[in-house]
Amino acid sequence: MNGANTHDEIVSCASVITDEQAKFFLNNGFLILRNIIRGEELRRLRAAMDDLTASGSETVREHPDFAYGSGHRTGRSVLRRIEYVIDKADECKALLGHPFILRSVEKLMGPDYIPTWDSMVLKLPREGIEVPWHRDAGTECVGDTPIFNVDYYLDAADEDTCVWVIPGSHRWSRAEVDAIVQQRDFHQETAVPALMRPGDVMFHNILVLHGSPRNGSDKLRRVIYYEFRAAHVEAALGPHIPEYIPLKQRVLLDCIERRKTTEYIARTEEPYEYQPPAPWNTVVREAASKPKTHRYPHGAYWRR
Ligand code: NI
Repeated sequence: MNGANTHDEIVSCASVITDEQAKFFLNNGFLILRNIIRGEELRRLRAAMDDLTASGSETVREHPDFAYGSGHRTGRSVLRRIEYVIDKADECKALLGHPFILRSVEKLMGPDYIPTWDSMVLKLPREGIEVPWHRDAGTECVGDTPIFNVDYYLDAADEDTCVWVIPGSHRWSRAEVDAIVQQRDFHQETAVPALMRPGDVMFHNILVLHGSPRNGSDKLRRVIYYEFRAAHVEAALGPHIPEYIPLKQRVLLDCIERRKTTEYIARTEEPYEYQPPAPWNTVVREAASKPKTHRYPHGAYWRR
């Protein structure tokens, strides 16, 4: 057994990231966790996302949740992103309730976190769409806690298909960020490739510079992104109106409950308990808190 495997097993048995991992995330703006989604859960997720990928790529969907780019070889519309995957697949609902991930989100962000974005980003074979260097949306709404995405890898990511990250750039000035964004070269001296295997997870701060070149290889690379924000920051700064917070808390609670009865989840798994402090705990105290939907479109909840 090599060193990497030993490390994987330590991570997968733990109930939350270590203090050392938390410190790495805070210093670097990202953290890679190996072998988090495993076995039947990974197989089910991949199968569900195979169906979604096929439904969005065999024909061009005239639906706002399916986003396309222009293929660099043929100029055809190439699927690059699907929004609101939690609404689209029960496997994604169970995934949101993953206890190791939620305990780790709580450790880094505090107990009043809410789920915000849920998307799948794709690098299709041969004409995978480039994602230029960027910080994620809503950086003007960052408060006193880190805001970050949890990136669940369904496929391997190698140097042909991976995301590049610039460690520490979440602390950079606007001018330093602009200097990188204006040039399109991914092989920055300071950039590192996020080399991943199916089931690996990356946390990335929305302020850390990241991006990925177009994919000319025959490999498919898909990642599910769940973003989390602290309720007190969302209430103070947005980008959504405050009414968005309890709606998304209901989605989270429902997904935690669903995971408990999902047949491919081990019965030995210790479920996550969501206990946000007051005044964010009203939804938790309600007896019936089923969400009306799992799809709350961002555009309907922006602040004026
Ligand atoms: Ni991004």
